[in-house]
Amino acid sequence: MENIYKPFRSKILKVIEQTYDTKVFRLEVKDFKYMPGQFVELSIPGVGEAPISITSSPHEEGYIDLCVRRIGTVTNALHRMKAGDYVWIRGPYGVGFPFETIKGKDIVYVAGGIGMAPLRSSLNYVLHHKKEFGKITVLYGARTPADLLYKEEFDRWAKECNFLVTVDSDKLPDGKPSGWKGNIGVVTTLFAKLNYSIKDAIGIVCGPPVMYKFVIQEFRKAGMPDSSIYISLERHMKCGVGKCQHCQINNRYVCLDGPVFNYADVKQLPEAI
Ligand SMILES: Cc1cc2nc3c(=O)[nH]c(=O)nc-3n(C[C@H](O)[C@H](O)[C@H](O)COP(=O)(O)OP(=O)(O)OC[C@H]3O[C@@H](n4cnc5c(N)ncnc54)[C@H](O)[C@@H]3O)c2cc1C
Ligand code: FES
Repeated sequence: MENIYKPFRSKILKVIEQTYDTKVFRLEVKDFKYMPGQFVELSIPGVGEAPISITSSPHEEGYIDLCVRRIGTVTNALHRMKAGDYVWIRGPYGVGFPFETIKGKDIVYVAGGIGMAPLRSSLNYVLHHKKEFGKITVLYGARTPADLLYKEEFDRWAKECNFLVTVDSDKLPDGKPSGWKGNIGVVTTLFAKLNYSIKDAIGIVCGPPVMYKFVIQEFRKAGMPDSSIYISLERHMKCGVGKCQHCQINNRYVCLDGPVFNYADVKQLPEAI
């Protein structure tokens, strides 16, 4: 019988520093099929396992990228690893973004913090298949300029879509000035800068739980129905495959039924957001 928990070994091809606490790990994979929004369980022998979203896009072959913030046991151990070291992964797991349903539509992405990791996979997928989608808008917020991820892709995104960035504070995490000349304010302040209707667009939100309620309010204010809003939820996970119930929200498992959910389907569930 096949062991569903059996991971495979994967070589770290490259480590890319993103910020003071976040790195991208490029992992070698072969015949690994996934869609944006899906995640893997990454393990380090003797340390533990953690769910991490895939931040690369399926058209990039031979590797997957994971964008990982150093926060606890597994992520700290991973941050000490370098190119040539090995980790173990299983997956891909979960339900990704519903591209078949949203083809032809305008999309408004809203990302906060590490939520940029799954969102980048989806954004680069959509930009790679640009003819199949309408107008693409990205509203991205981070705590400080030092927390912004993927700065090296900002110029390309600004050319290929309507890309707006803001920071909560223009100070660096140590309180020193950063020289930031861009927008300041929480990510929802960027909605006021959109001078076109997003009523018929699809809204996609990835970020910290506190952000969801306020972003959904903005979507609703703009006339977007709840059924056009997709959210990527994060819950504490163990198995990743619908067995342990750690990630359960009422009758849904975030690992199996999500992490991407249609807001209209989960808005009635207590504790969903
Ligand atoms: C689907 C999904 C995708 C994710 N994608 C990413 C990603 O792309 N990048 C990324 O950096 N992170 C991502 N995460 C978050 C990441 O999995 C967690 O931060 C994970 O806990 C890190 O593992 P760790 O061993 O380093 O941290 P831990 O040692 O587990 O600690 C992390 C934090 O969780 C708390 N914690 C530990 N155990 C519990 C518990 N039982 N209940 C509640 N809180 C607990 C700790 O106090 C600590 O603050 C994702 C999570 C999910 C569910
Ligand atoms: S993580 Fe075990 S059921 Fe979802």
